[in-house]
Amino acid sequence: MAEPNARLLLEDVSTTYLSDSLRLPVLDKVSLRVGEGEFVSLLGPSGSGKSTLLKIAAGLLKPDAGRIFLNGAEVSGRAAKVGYMPQQDLLFPWKTLLQNGALPLLAAGAGKKEARSRVSELLPVFGLEGFEGYYPRQLSGGMRQRAALLRTVLIESGLMLLDEPFAALDALTREKLQEWLLGILSRFKRSVLFVTHSIDEAIYLSDRVYMISDRPGKIVQELSIELPRPRSRTVVTAPRFMAYKELLMGSLDLH
Ligand SMILES: Nc1ncnc2c1ncn2[C@@H]1O[C@H](COP(=O)(O)OP(=O)(O)O)[C@@H](O)[C@H]1O
Ligand SMILES: [Mg+2]
Repeated sequence: MAEPNARLLLEDVSTTYLSDSLRLPVLDKVSLRVGEGEFVSLLGPSGSGKSTLLKIAAGLLKPDAGRIFLNGAEVSGRAAKVGYMPQQDLLFPWKTLLQNGALPLLAAGAGKKEARSRVSELLPVFGLEGFEGYYPRQLSGGMRQRAALLRTVLIESGLMLLDEPFAALDALTREKLQEWLLGILSRFKRSVLFVTHSIDEAIYLSDRVYMISDRPGKIVQELSIELPRPRSRTVVTAPRFMAYKELLMGSLDLH
């Protein structure tokens, strides 16, 4: 049953890809929830079905079995109104930063002028002021990811689904963007389901972490991260952080 206060609830979601005559089981009875205002990570190895699960949560893919609830209402088939940031193909190379940013608003029926002014307002918050006329290839990796996040935040929905947004960045840029994301969220107050294969990233960012096994993905551990907020970078050396890390590493080995 749908729980009150759950932004997202998945119940026993299973799915299989069919290609040629091969059946590839990808998710095996996955259940998870994201509460109001909660930052939840889905952590697991490459190929475990994380992106598939996010597409299902975004309503882009229909699972073979299981139920999905958004804000307490069951989702059936059609694309849900959530802020979904896919793992790839984030920005159109032939559109400027401003045009890329305005796309979801235009798609939602906003006028060109309004869309552009709403994107412009957010540019300073995302550290992109002055770059509105740039094309994606003219931006650094970190800037491209911030632009894609800006676009996701523009979708006025309480839930953001982020698929490894920082995975392709160098370590320093990645750490900076993690801190920056926490700042952004304290301003925009969204619930987040965040996909990553980095244990450190999951612990640093999250209120709760689900660990998913190798394909077919099953939830093998759920861990509440009780580290105070706001979190500074130094938290990664705290004994409690280390203890969480050991726990999660252990469950990766076991399964
Ligand atoms: N559209 C598809 N058709 C067939 N197999 C797919 C498709 N998308 C993903 N897969 C396979 O499903 C498995 C899980 O993929 P994915 O959800 O992308 O995992 P992750 O995001 O955890 O790396 C992988 O083995 C992948 O090759
Ligand atoms: Mg993936």
